Amino acid sequence: MARPSSHVNNSFFAAIFAVCLSSFLPIGHAQSISTNTPVPPLQWLNLTNLLHGSGPPPLKDASIGYDPDSRSLLIFGGESQGGFPQSQTYLLNLNTLIWSTPTPPDGLTNTPPPRSAAIGGSDFAASYRHGHVVIGGKDANGQSLSDVWEFDYVNHFWTQVGIPPGGPSRWSASGGIDVTVAFDPTGLPTPNNTFYLAGGVGTNGPAAVSDTWVMKITGTLSSNLANDVSASWTHQPIGSYPAVAGDGGTVIGQQVVAIGGCENTTSVTASCAQQGSWVFNFGRGSSIAPGPCAAPRIGPAVVANMNGASQNFQNQVLVMLGLFNTSLWQDGGNSQKGEVDVLDLQGGSWARVMPAGDPGSGGNPAFPSPREGAAAVSSGTSLVGPSGGYSDTIVFGGRDASGNYLNELWVLRSYNASVSSSGQHWSGFGNGQLQSGAGASGSGVSVQYLTSCVSAIKQPGANRLLSAPILLSAPIPICRSL
Ligand SMILES: *[C@@H]1O[C@H](CO)[C@@H](O)[C@H](O)[C@H]1NC(C)=O
Ligand SMILES: *[C@@H]1O[C@H](CO)[C@@H](O)[C@H](O)[C@H]1NC(C)=O
Ligand SMILES: *[C@@H]1O[C@H](CO)[C@@H](O)[C@H](O)[C@H]1NC(C)=O
Ligand SMILES: *[C@@H]1O[C@H](CO)[C@@H](O)[C@H](O)[C@H]1NC(C)=O
Ligand SMILES: *[C@@H]1O[C@H](CO)[C@@H](O)[C@H](O)[C@H]1NC(C)=O
Repeated sequence: MARPSSHVNNSFFAAIFAVCLSSFLPIGHAQSISTNTPVPPLQWLNLTNLLHGSGPPPLKDASIGYDPDSRSLLIFGGESQGGFPQSQTYLLNLNTLIWSTPTPPDGLTNTPPPRSAAIGGSDFAASYRHGHVVIGGKDANGQSLSDVWEFDYVNHFWTQVGIPPGGPSRWSASGGIDVTVAFDPTGLPTPNNTFYLAGGVGTNGPAAVSDTWVMKITGTLSSNLANDVSASWTHQPIGSYPAVAGDGGTVIGQQVVAIGGCENTTSVTASCAQQGSWVFNFGRGSSIAPGPCAAPRIGPAVVANMNGASQNFQNQVLVMLGLFNTSLWQDGGNSQKGEVDVLDLQGGSWARVMPAGDPGSGGNPAFPSPREGAAAVSSGTSLVGPSGGYSDTIVFGGRDASGNYLNELWVLRSYNASVSSSGQHWSGFGNGQLQSGAGASGSGVSVQYLTSCVSAIKQPGANRLLSAPILLSAPIPICRSL
């Protein structure tokens, strides 16, 4: 719950922030941007209209998963328009684009209690487990949860994972699992998978984003052995970074990437969004905090670049959507036009890229509006449409800047090529006519690189604060940490 002082603190630090930026950092010089990072040709496609059956209502902060065997997209939980956490599970058949709700076997009708802002991901371990794991989240009273559940993609039931007390109880953590990392065959009693968690909001407010944890999961998930999955946590803090809530993140290999959010508060609003980003490498026990460049934001969708056309892509995360206050930050209006930011984990550098849009039937390219808490899942192959030639990220739901909850389903399609300059043509550029729909083949798709970082807008009255005595005693590190 918000502490009474948090609002005061926020505006105080926001004021210092603006002052520091305008007095010590010449805007545009302190930040660096890459304008030739190799990226795949990217295109947004709005599939909302192509879906059938009875799908999820508008949801923010739902859990999302993908099962390549059954070609199912899973949506669980999330917060509804009324602000209430949900406990329903939906499956979208990606071949037929028909939504359904799973029917569990008799006697296996338990479901996780309602929640939003959980972390999770796929737990595939040979024939032992083929499920989607959900870890923690925020309950109906706004409290953090520590329970862990797994949905069986084969027999469509949920089981509660047995886990000793003492682990993290968090919502809005960053983390999950990289499904391309092979399970550990030495796990007992059956092969293990590893999930990672960084930060989040716990019972004592926001935890440091560097409060990092590892969860190993093992056991058998089957309808005749319905209570056999267990897990355990290891606390493995890496580095020392601020407490953050409302960040977005993903896992690449043994690294957790966390982006944006608000510092030192649980009242996550667009106005407190920060430009921070952090990468925690559990293999090495090391961390980096790349410099600011992309827009600050709450609730960004963050995925690994799983496109296989270039080795460079293996170290990239794609940062999409999220919300920030456009009166406080100058982003050139690009967040309205589908901007995708690319963070290279090796160099810690940012690129800001404008993908192609969805021409729809009218030919006027459309992009997803900015939204917080959209759920995203990526694949190294196509998720919808004929296979071959591209890899897809599916983005579902979220809440837009006007507070409307959404059930739109977008694909960020990434064609099988690598480009490194604005407007560059590639082998599939074809006749230059953009295509729409699940089978869009990439014709007409090119990207534009933005050439400057997002900067803070000097706020009226900021200079007046310079003479306020309190500023004279303001700790310099606040300015340096920008
Ligand atoms: C995406 O498609 C849905 C359904 O047709 C529509 O309501 C929505 O406005 C579209 N979004 C944009 C940005 O075009
Ligand atoms: C596998 O996971 C179990 C349950 O968390 C844990 O007790 C065991 O130590 C793990 N084994 C390995 C090899 O990580
Ligand atoms: C959050 O708190 C930490 C520790 O007190 C401080 O160093 C940091 O500047 C604060 N951040 C903001 C944005 O207030
Ligand atoms: C954005 O920031 C401005 C300037 O501080 C403030 O007046 C406005 O209320 C904020 N907008 C939102 C939506 O929070
Ligand atoms: C992508 O392109 C590479 C080289 O151009 C090719 O070897 C590979 O088979 C292609 N992959 C897909 C999924 O089309």
